[in-house]
Order: sequence, then structure tokens, then C-alpha cells
Amino acid sequence: QLDPLPALTPEFLSVLNKVCEQCYTDFAPDELEMGVRELILKDLETFIRRQFPAARLQLFGSSKNGFGFRQSDLDICMVLEGQETINDVDCISLIESLARLLRKHSGVKNVLPITTAKVPIVKFYHVQTGLEGDISLYNTLALHNTHLLASYAAIDRRVKILCYIMKVFAKMCDIGDASRGSLSSYAYTLMALFFLQQRNPPVIPVLQEIYDGQKKPEVLVDGWNVYFFDDLKALPSRWPQLGGNTESVGELWLGLLRFYTEEFDFREHVVCIRQHARLTTFNKQWTSKYIVIEDPFDLNHNLGAGLSRKMTNFIMKAFINGRRVFGTPHKAFPPIYPSLMEYF
Ligand code: GTP
Ligand code: MG
Repeated sequence: QLDPLPALTPEFLSVLNKVCEQCYTDFAPDELEMGVRELILKDLETFIRRQFPAARLQLFGSSKNGFGFRQSDLDICMVLEGQETINDVDCISLIESLARLLRKHSGVKNVLPITTAKVPIVKFYHVQTGLEGDISLYNTLALHNTHLLASYAAIDRRVKILCYIMKVFAKMCDIGDASRGSLSSYAYTLMALFFLQQRNPPVIPVLQEIYDGQKKPEVLVDGWNVYFFDDLKALPSRWPQLGGNTESVGELWLGLLRFYTEEFDFREHVVCIRQHARLTTFNKQWTSKYIVIEDPFDLNHNLGAGLSRKMTNFIMKAFINGRRVFGTPHKAFPPIYPSLMEYF
């Protein structure tokens, strides 16, 4: 029941491409802003270490993965040096002490411990920059998936732009907030990367499938293998398809919308960036869910697990609308574009 799309003229593609490029330049933070994030981190670390001398803080998420907006939150992971892990009880009490401590810091406001979530955190608001932040403890897998996403972002400029557009699209359509029942930015980034791996010819490889010898190396973290090929300088010799895809970002964006509305069968298949061969929902025993997105390292984690049927339909409708809007010339060159951008 999808509307047929008109043939794409070179003029139309060029406009679509401009819109995509513009979206990226509008939202990408510059180096100065990235530096500010590091300064906030150092300041917090110094403050926390007065009470917890072993505390070490590290940024992860979009401050580090290459897909950050100017206003993206600060995702911070704290560990205690000399201590390998933390149990659930200690984790909650440490989060609570951390919250009490941060309330004494004059640079932050709205300090709130959230101890009921799967990953307990302390939320805060950084007054001077207006940035929101949260601190989690021993969130080691997240540090690794941040590094994985950053590696994909570094392979090709189009990866960065497309993942940005995907995130902007999700936020604009109100389908990008996991705390309100939809999917997280991280989930949409995985969807965009999966599309780029499955495109023919592919834009990016499956880094978790590139290794020497017969067997994938094992680097275990919290019981999961976090190995991936990260020697990007050596990638051209390891992945001959590099550079084989020459589509513009505009073509890829429309390609993505078409892929998820026309081609990809959500009932059968899993969005899975750790292997090139299609993984089925049957393989994973995840058949009761409609949108299934497998975390690249924590293979028991389906990022779509929290979606209701209603929200799933709402997300699918957003993609169907997006396909029509970006795939139809008079609608895709939007006089509405600048005002929509101001929404952020
Ligand atoms: P923005 O903050 O929206 O710019 O994107 P982000 O990538 O930082 O997303 P978010 O702040 O929601 O999540 C921070 C990081 O947590 C992600 O980048 C992942 O590294 C990690 N993460 C791992 N699993 C999950 C998950 O199930 N949900 C979310 N939200 N994050 C996860
Ligand atoms: Mg974030």
C-alpha cells in the first residue's frame, strides 16, 4: 500500500543531497564544543575525587562516537581504580552517595539519582552550558560500542552524515526517545549502519567479521566478545570493497527510507550489525516483537524490546511518510526546512 515514487531526476537528487549536507552542518558540534565537554568532565572528576579518590570518569555515547549534536547529553561512565566490577547493591548506594555529593557542586543543578533503571544513573544539568548529563557506573560495554560506532563514523564521511540525518529525523518525528517508549538514538544509529552494510555495493564493512586466521579473536567484557577490527589505516587492504559505493548522501538517505519500508522484512529479520548474513527473528527466538535490533556486543539485548504495538506502528508510519516526503520532488525541497530545524 505504498505510493509509487516518481523517477529521480539529477536535479532532484542534487537538491535532496543539499538538504542532507545542510542538516549535518546545522547540527554537528565543532571542536571547541567537543573541548568544552572534556573540560566539564575534568571538573567533575576533580570534584568527585575529593570524596572518592579512586574515581575515574570517561565520556561515551555521542560525545565520543562521532554522532553528537551540539545539545546532546553528556554520557559519563565512572569506575573506581583498582576495582574490577561492582555488584548491584553497591552500585545503587554509590549512585546515591554520588548524587548527595553532586548536590554540593555549584556548577550543576537538578541532581537526580535514578536507581530503578536497568543501568542506574545520576542525572544532572550543567548550568553554564545548559547541557544535560548522566553518570553511570562500570558501563563498560557502552564504552566499547561507542568505540565501535566511532570507528564506523571514521571510515567514510557519508556514514556520519547519514547517521545524523537519521537521528534528526527520529527526533523530529518524535520517535527517538526511549524513555517515552520509542527507540533510543543508539538504536537508530544501528539501523543506519546496518543499512550501509547491506547496501549493494556496501558503504561500510562488518568490522566484527574482519580478522586474521580462521577464528574470531575473543576479547571478553561482561561475558561478551567485544572484538572488532579497529586498525582503520589497514582497512583498504583488508576490505577491497572500500570506495566501491559512490552514491551521494541524498541517494543513500532515500535508499535507507526505501530499504526499511519496501525491502526489509521486520517480521523475519533482525537489524544486526555484527554479521553480514541475515539473522532471523526465529534464530533469536524474538518472534513476538516486530522491530528487532540486536546490540552488537550484548547479544541478549534487543533494543526494540520495549516497544508497544502502537509505538511500532507509529515508527513505521514515520518511515513511510519520510519515504514519501523525501522521495517526491515538490515535497522534498521544503520551504519548511529552516523552520523545522529551529525546532531544536
Ligand atoms: P544522543 O545523546 O541522542 O546524541 O545519542 P547517544 O548515542 O549519546 O545516545 P544515548 O545518550 O541515548 O546513549 C548513550 C550511549 O549508551 C549510547 O551511545 C551507547 O553507547 C550506550 N548504550 C548501550 N545500550 C544502550 C541502550 O540500550 N540504550 C541506550 N540509549 N544507550 C545504550
Ligand atoms: Mg547521549
